[in-house]
Amino acid sequence: MPPVPLSRSGKSHRTADSPISYFIQKALDTPGLISFAAGLVDEGSLPVDEVGAAVAEIVSDPVSGRAALQYGSTQGLPELREQVLNLVCAADGVRPYDVNLTPADVCITTGSQQLLYLLGEVLFDPGDIVITEAPSYFVFHSLLQSHGAKVLTVPIDDGGMKMDALESLLERLRRSGELPRVKVIYTVDYFQNPTGLTLALDRRPKLVELARRFSTDHRILILEDAAYRELRFTGADLPSVKRFDTTNEYVVYTSTFSKPCAPGLKTGYALVPPDVMEPMMHLKGSHDFGSANLSQHIASRLMASGAYTKHAEELRNVYRKKRDLMLRAMESEFGDFPAARWTIPDGGFYVWLTLDAIDTGPSGEFVLAALETGVLFVPGEFGHVPDENGHVPNNECRLCFGVATEEQIPEGIRRLRRACAAISAGNRTFVIQT
Ligand SMILES: Cc1ncc(COP(=O)(O)O)c(C=O)c1O
Repeated sequence: MPPVPLSRSGKSHRTADSPISYFIQKALDTPGLISFAAGLVDEGSLPVDEVGAAVAEIVSDPVSGRAALQYGSTQGLPELREQVLNLVCAADGVRPYDVNLTPADVCITTGSQQLLYLLGEVLFDPGDIVITEAPSYFVFHSLLQSHGAKVLTVPIDDGGMKMDALESLLERLRRSGELPRVKVIYTVDYFQNPTGLTLALDRRPKLVELARRFSTDHRILILEDAAYRELRFTGADLPSVKRFDTTNEYVVYTSTFSKPCAPGLKTGYALVPPDVMEPMMHLKGSHDFGSANLSQHIASRLMASGAYTKHAEELRNVYRKKRDLMLRAMESEFGDFPAARWTIPDGGFYVWLTLDAIDTGPSGEFVLAALETGVLFVPGEFGHVPDENGHVPNNECRLCFGVATEEQIPEGIRRLRRACAAISAGNRTFVIQT
């Protein structure tokens, strides 16, 4: 008898495996492979001692130990909510009061990824429109696909999302009558995943102004994903987009302990307008009625003791050094390569390489040749959504210098260059097993 078929939801059908799962698995399965693919953090600097000390402190006292091992609340640990609010406001040079925020406007989530998902649950019906940068964080694109949302994109330049292009797009949507379907403008505005680029200072208030101006029959929210903000290693911090939303109406700001501390804590946080917070907490109540309480207590201890700030400071040095190693290697290996260019990030851990002459797509020869020489990258294609003609740029690569060691970075770039040479010489032998 054939098995009785499963009747799956529309959402489950719309949700595919992440396109890079294959690449991550490949990295795990191939000894000696240098991976610039996975967006993992530096291993050696993970705060093992600091977290150990925080856990020891928590459990040394039965009262605090029990508090941390008990369930917490859906919205998150009150002292941590206050700490992260103060952290963001201090970075923005304001007091919470100046921007109409209190700890009641802060929630703690299971990584910032959960916030992205939950906000989608609050806002999107199939067919709703989300505007993102081109390219953008590809896991967010997969999530939008699950929700059945339609993605429209705005080009970026060295100053991030282009405001004139965003304005023209919103204007076009107004004229076509589609503005009522626009729910969110999404920006990864600090050292963007995948390009490493940052939204310029003058574009930040402009973004809020555009969201306000085009919010005629409903509010168009800005989703500011500041996951990498604290990993700046050159230049001064820029105020958040949220800083210009002084009434706390238009911007949801989300960030995370994953990048500046430890992804294993899987703890993120968000500053959210009150009428978004309420339905979101109802949904989170159904999801998990609160993120891991122990992680929140650890994060709170790390912040209170000063270990968090000190660690983030050390990480900036770690990543600056890795960025410099990668850029130096790019210069020496790709400096003379026809039409090769790459971004110079001021923080985070991504360099975006464009190779006009090479097809970097997941089924192109370059990815195979790179695997053959022992290096892995994320095809830039994954960060794009097809345009009206089904076209996706396929000559870009995301190179992550987060997890590769200092020795591996120059060697990985040399291998990438050898892969280019192998393609030009037409002597590829590797056959990928899918
Ligand atoms: C831009 C961006 N946002 C959100 C996340 C989610 O991170 P987490 O859920 O660990 O906070 C990531 C992870 O790589 C990311 O790159």
